[in-house]
Amino acid sequence: MQKYEIAVIPGDGIGKEVVPEALKVLETLADIHGGLSFEWTPFPWSCDYYVQHGKMMPDDGIQTLQNFNAIFLGAVGNPQVVPDHISLWGLLINIRREMEQSINIRPARYFKGLQSPLVNPKDFDLIVVRENSEGEYSEVGGRIHKNEDEIAIQNAIFTRKGTERAMRYAFELAQKRRGHVTSATKSNGIVHSMPFWDGVFDEVKKDYSEVETASYHIDALAAFFVSRPQVFDVIVASNLFGDILTDIGGAIMGSIGIAPAANINVNGKYPSMFEPVHGSAPDIYGKGIANPVGQIWTAKMMLDHFGEEELGQHLLDAMESVIGEGIKTVDIGGAATTKEVTEALIQRLKSL
Ligand code: NAI
Ligand code: MG
Repeated sequence: MQKYEIAVIPGDGIGKEVVPEALKVLETLADIHGGLSFEWTPFPWSCDYYVQHGKMMPDDGIQTLQNFNAIFLGAVGNPQVVPDHISLWGLLINIRREMEQSINIRPARYFKGLQSPLVNPKDFDLIVVRENSEGEYSEVGGRIHKNEDEIAIQNAIFTRKGTERAMRYAFELAQKRRGHVTSATKSNGIVHSMPFWDGVFDEVKKDYSEVETASYHIDALAAFFVSRPQVFDVIVASNLFGDILTDIGGAIMGSIGIAPAANINVNGKYPSMFEPVHGSAPDIYGKGIANPVGQIWTAKMMLDHFGEEELGQHLLDAMESVIGEGIKTVDIGGAATTKEVTEALIQRLKSL
């Protein structure tokens, strides 16, 4: 019996509504599989926790999380009670950085029954591998002088280690998918870091000769995400480029309520963290109408990460089948509640 020990942080707002639903789904899958089980350990770290303790998580929080196989997180943020920069940096960003989760992955795919804003959404199914620890989002630089003499300098940091790590992850993922990696570059305009990026890509791809590759400048690539997303399989991108591409990926799917994400630790020193793209949605919290699909798809990513890809595919098929039948929440044009969607999904999983 394979047992996975999972730290569960529902967080704030609808995180507290969709996380329990996703756990029910995972329990159902464990029953179906028969050979695996989950042990959930909940942590109440959130803005409510901050109000009581003056911090988002205890000082030894990272140490506590270290021993789990993965972290399953809902959403963080309640700006009426705690300013966003305190809540996000105190929990989410803290975990991502301290636990060396250097890669962020976000899939986007066409789902039957979802209204994509694209006029003709062909069957796209792509995944963006975003470098998550360096690149354009660095704290190196500064500002000097005042008024008309003011100068701001922001340095982008590209290390061979970080760049190669993201690229190898992308290639290994592509081997398990359709065998194609696209590199997001801009070496025609950014003359140091991006030619370096291209050079590392050319080196790394030699180790994966069976994987096909392409390289596009980020501006053209962003346009292709809209005009022909179906041509992409895995895309590897720097921190900034990946950030932008994943938002487009989410947008062409049709709702932020369904988009999943994972923060991956690749050196094995710490667990990876799985969390949907959406936030705590204070505007709909408490109404029971939050879309659980983003959190549940995030659970699928966790299964994939554990090597339980068959079970993950089973879950994805059931999700598509339920959504395709119109059992969906208001944000994607349905009338079902959070619990009704989960219940339908669980029944489908048992019957498929
Ligand atoms: P949000 O993602 O929480 O909500 C944006 C809009 O999408 C809202 O209208 C909301 O109702 C809707 N929405 C989001 N998820 C949904 C779901 N599952 N089902 C149906 N509708 C859904 O972003 P917003 O409003 O900018 O931020 C709210 C709070 O969440 C803030 O405190 C923010 O900092 C935090 N946040 C946290 C994130 C995280 O924990 N990873 C990510 C984004 C925001
Ligand atoms: Mg973003």
